[in-house]
Amino acid sequence: MNNSVSNLNLPLVKRAVVIGVGLIGGSLSKALREAGAIETIVGVGLTEHSLVRAVQLGVIDEYSLDAVSAVADADLVIIATPVLSTERVLEQIKDALPAKAVITDVGSAKGIVVEACQHIFGGVPARFVLGHPIAGSEKSGVDAAKIDLYRNHSVILTPLPDTDADALALVHALWEVTGAKVLEMGVDHHDHVLAATSHLPHLLAYSLVDTLAKQNENQEIFRYAAGGFADFTRIASSDPTMWHDIFLANKGAVLESLDKFSADIIQLRHALEQSDSKAMLGVFTRAKSARDHFTKMLAQRAYVEPMNQNEQTFVAGSSSQQAGPVTGRIRVPGDKSISHRSIMLGAIAEGETQIEGFLEGEDSLATLQAFRDMGVVIEGPHHGRVSVYGVGLNGLSQPPGPLYVGNSGTSMRLLAGLLAGQSFDVELRGDESLTARPMGRVANPLAEMGAVIETNEGKPPMVIRGGQSLQGIHYEMPVASAQVKSSLILAGLYADGETIVIEPAPTRDHTERMLNGFGYEVSGRDISKGVREISVKGGGKLSATKIDVPADISSAAFFMVAASITPGSDLTLEHVGINPTRVGVVNILTQMGADIELTNDRIVGGEPVADIRIRYAPLKGINIPEDQVALAIDEFPVLFVAAACAEGTTVLTGAEELRVKESDRIQAMADGLQTLGVNAQATPDGMIIEGGDIGAGTIDSLGDHRIAMSFAVASLQSQGEIEILNCANVATSFPNFVELATQVGMSVRVLD
Ligand code: S3P
Repeated sequence: MNNSVSNLNLPLVKRAVVIGVGLIGGSLSKALREAGAIETIVGVGLTEHSLVRAVQLGVIDEYSLDAVSAVADADLVIIATPVLSTERVLEQIKDALPAKAVITDVGSAKGIVVEACQHIFGGVPARFVLGHPIAGSEKSGVDAAKIDLYRNHSVILTPLPDTDADALALVHALWEVTGAKVLEMGVDHHDHVLAATSHLPHLLAYSLVDTLAKQNENQEIFRYAAGGFADFTRIASSDPTMWHDIFLANKGAVLESLDKFSADIIQLRHALEQSDSKAMLGVFTRAKSARDHFTKMLAQRAYVEPMNQNEQTFVAGSSSQQAGPVTGRIRVPGDKSISHRSIMLGAIAEGETQIEGFLEGEDSLATLQAFRDMGVVIEGPHHGRVSVYGVGLNGLSQPPGPLYVGNSGTSMRLLAGLLAGQSFDVELRGDESLTARPMGRVANPLAEMGAVIETNEGKPPMVIRGGQSLQGIHYEMPVASAQVKSSLILAGLYADGETIVIEPAPTRDHTERMLNGFGYEVSGRDISKGVREISVKGGGKLSATKIDVPADISSAAFFMVAASITPGSDLTLEHVGINPTRVGVVNILTQMGADIELTNDRIVGGEPVADIRIRYAPLKGINIPEDQVALAIDEFPVLFVAAACAEGTTVLTGAEELRVKESDRIQAMADGLQTLGVNAQATPDGMIIEGGDIGAGTIDSLGDHRIAMSFAVASLQSQGEIEILNCANVATSFPNFVELATQVGMSVRVLD
């Protein structure tokens, strides 16, 4: 019971009359009676036998066969008859109802109850609060009444503008006493939502079982009908009268849903007849993902549900023994940047793109889901394999609601560019961390191209208006950002003329490489030392291809540092992407004295890949060259840990970008290292770190995956355990981090 309920002064009502003591009315009475919310509950019904039974079962205190005399001194009247009887009941009791009485009902359709009130009272009385519990069972009658039928279920109240506030508060409180979650919505909205989510499925279940029962071999069918039949048809055992009433009561909305379904089932029949696998898989994959995430879908949001909704704490290191050494051969998960791009480009290509090694982390899954929401058929991921059935540059369709991309800046910024050229409006939303991150850096240049984008003062949510014609621009990026560059390149595919982006320092070039792999020309040239110009022309097309996503060097970095700082370590990381725009971590660690060897170099799908062997070596502090900053932008949190374990001072400058990542990574790391007794001073654009001993302590990762994993690595050298709070977002980029860390000899466990 929640606080507000336990604070209520019970009983809330002296005398309540429940008209209709079956499953729904009986369960409500029972829950209210047990909780002491009502002094006396009188049941009214049609047969004495079932009312006597209701008294025996402790569902009601007294009973009456005469509704009129029963309501005469009632404080509360609950109408729980089949919904089509509501008008008859109201007609019967209208003259006997005391003015003080609050009335409520439980009918599955609300429009019809409003109509009934209009006929009887000329409108809905102010003290009549219309309600509908979203709970039930295929069983019926008072014997099926359950005290906890409503616990953790929703109850929808549909108050009208002149509903009495006290009456509404009372009905609210009564439902809360039963353990239900109470929400409010309009009458019409309620009837449409329920038609689709409850009434149509019941109608289909009745119809399917009837079809099967009419067939000659029905004995056989029912004998062998296993799980699927039982799962799909359980609700066909529901009370026929009640459902007859509900369908008629909500006829208009049910027919609308039924017509949509009928059109779709005819299409599916056609697809099957034609052996149209693409159409069939389209239906099945969309349905599966919608079903898997149906709660969000009902709320008209994209279907992504964080895998780790609950906060997680890691306990890393050991209070009794030295962890490590770090040894073995492992393959860390697929590259996050490449995974995002493989879905985006596959979706707007023509034909089927097959992806291997896809990162099944929350960020890249958010991108995948966004394209499903825009009508793209995507199979998988299954062990890193994904098939994307591209719809061509102009084949995306408007999603049913805002696209929710969670924690993923890459999804939001790249999608902003890609969506700027579509014909429909889209809203992009993210979690709390993403909602604080700058989006003006993409919205402003995209606006220069002719896009219409609304932001919340430069922050998400972003609304991107469709139907604009984009023009190529010449844009010099003020910050070296691959996300901004990629966003403009993607918009450039839809623009008239050439889009030219100048980057002040080299940033990851996966978008350019992959577009070339899809047969779309993107050119790049160095215009002065470190300054590059990238250009793309609109109006081409992408042809589907195969993509092999290498292991993510950003995830590998945690283990590179882990092995470097732990005596006796010898670790090989397989098939790691070593794109020259990403190897800053290798260069910096090597300069610090790390023992890193790259073997088995090869090019896979346009990206260089190698196995990386790291052995323990004492590290020394360095001044990190500024030309490495963009090349190691995501690896600084763990490089700071390496610096804390090195001899001497390490200085980082020119990295103010770190302040606008998933957290302010300069501040978060300086605070955490100081908590562990390390001399780490944050500066506006970097950090100064003195190597030394690392103590034990509790760190807040602030929900930033890379901060969390970096402190887990620090525990290899700490004198005691490090407790790391807010680690759930590790799943955004590295879902099996704890498992792999444990496999190579680290001590990291997740607290329940
Ligand atoms: C990314 C680019 C980088 C990086 C991010 C992924 C990408 O961001 O930090 O994790 O996939 O393009 P910026 O380009 O904004 O530096």
